[in-house]
Amino acid sequence: MELLPKGTLETIRNAQKIIFLTGAGISNESGIPTFRGEGGLWKNFRAEDLATPEAFQNNPELVWEWYDWRRGICKNAEPNLGHITIAKWQKKSKGIFLITQNVDGLHPRSGSEPIIELHGNIFRARCTNCSTKFHLEQDGLNHDGLKYCQNCESLLRPDIVWFGEEYDQSLLTKSWELCQLSQVVFVIGTSANVSVPAQLALTAIRSGAIGIEINPETTSLSPSMKHHFQGKSGEILPKIWKEVFEEESIG
Ligand code: OAD
Repeated sequence: MELLPKGTLETIRNAQKIIFLTGAGISNESGIPTFRGEGGLWKNFRAEDLATPEAFQNNPELVWEWYDWRRGICKNAEPNLGHITIAKWQKKSKGIFLITQNVDGLHPRSGSEPIIELHGNIFRARCTNCSTKFHLEQDGLNHDGLKYCQNCESLLRPDIVWFGEEYDQSLLTKSWELCQLSQVVFVIGTSANVSVPAQLALTAIRSGAIGIEINPETTSLSPSMKHHFQGKSGEILPKIWKEVFEEESIG
């Protein structure tokens, strides 16, 4: 059975800019827990204790312990067909942009480019004093526990946007611009509970893009979408690829 009607397929094929906006759900099939819903991280951990600047100030050891644990899960996970389909799409066509809320590094590992990691990356750390960024694996900082800057010896923190913190302004500006200029926005595996990413999707739609959501559940964004596919991104994205390109090259 066809997933997308002819008109939508034409819009996708003729689009100058397509946005893929992803959240934790796209990595769920790779074995990485989501944040909300059944088995979600925020069911078992309190964000206030682990993902705020105050939490880090009060107990940096605990915060690093949690991020070291999560980094281990991400390191052992492999990109799934959802990540791989987006990366192949970006290689095949011009004007395909990926904006992700995920910090797990699976999109870059699947070869996606360009990519905007709105919430940072769990494999990076940043100096609390001089702001120098480090790659924990490549810079030999992948031990558990507190880590210190190789320039000024101050404490490093995870390079993640925590609750109550500002987004990187240049990434945000670029994201708004792309969303305003897009003709199609795929919204994949996000509960849309965090307002900036949800607003990005709505901005694209208000600017004339058609919205295509892939999620086993409906979200607050679902009513604004032209199509909602209730299912797993690792299964649905390859089928959409097949319809758009009329070829089976994924999987
Ligand atoms: P959530 O955990 O809030 O939502 C994950 C969504 O993925 C849910 O709507 C699920 O229904 C859906 N989902 C689950 N499995 C899926 C699958 N196989 N295919 C497609 N969808 C699936 O995650 P986010 O919306 O990404 O911030 O959360 C946003 C931010 O809140 C995160 O970036 C994180 C968190 O606090 C930081 O850590 C800074």
